Amino acid sequence: MGELILPPPYRDDAASHPPLDFAGYGSTARRHPTQPLIALPHTLTELTGPLLGDGRVAPEDADLTRRHDGEPLGERIIVHGRVLEEDGRPVPGTLVEVWQCNSAGRYWHEGDQHPAPLDPNFTGLGRCLTGADGAFRFVTIKPGAYPWGNHPNAWRPAHIHFSLFGRAFTQRLVTQMYFPGDPLFGQDPIFNSVRDPAARERMVCAFDLEATTPEWALAYRWDIVLRGPEAVVPDEDGA
Ligand SMILES: [Fe+2]
Repeated sequence: MGELILPPPYRDDAASHPPLDFAGYGSTARRHPTQPLIALPHTLTELTGPLLGDGRVAPEDADLTRRHDGEPLGERIIVHGRVLEEDGRPVPGTLVEVWQCNSAGRYWHEGDQHPAPLDPNFTGLGRCLTGADGAFRFVTIKPGAYPWGNHPNAWRPAHIHFSLFGRAFTQRLVTQMYFPGDPLFGQDPIFNSVRDPAARERMVCAFDLEATTPEWALAYRWDIVLRGPEAVVPDEDGA
């Protein structure tokens, strides 16, 4: 058996991380562990795999508007930013994956049957690797709000799901990015399960006029800080 390696200890941040069982978010009660967690030591496998390989991610994977024959309906947008360590160092070579509903608020998934139209030119999946400066950039369609049945007249604010995967199985962050000024923030228990208002703001991107492409697309910027006081909050259980 190989030498056991312990990763750096996990820093608990109860003010910004959602509790496992959040009263306003119905399904959390059914999903969270009910037994104490057991720490499993990691071996080289967990700390060095997977080797994703740059060649597996094509540049066109980052343009969600060009995955089909025609262009999707909706407001074309650019979403870009950088993945950073808490001291500001960029994190290169991180796999950034996104998934989202279409402009009508419907996911391309059999589990989403609410009466909004699917778009044959939009499946809502994209990915890219961060560059040497930690930067990522997607072209997509602004997602719509959608109802989700958590409570009477419950609607999710527009959001894009993000997954970050580093160079080890233990380097994973799953979260959601929101858009500034969304009128649905106040009634969304997933957004508000992050109880620290400053931490909630770190999940909201910024309109970026400079990165806007004239006559073509508006732009939003969202930097993802992995740890420390400016860290983006992980999505423990989000819809
Ligand atoms: Fe969602």
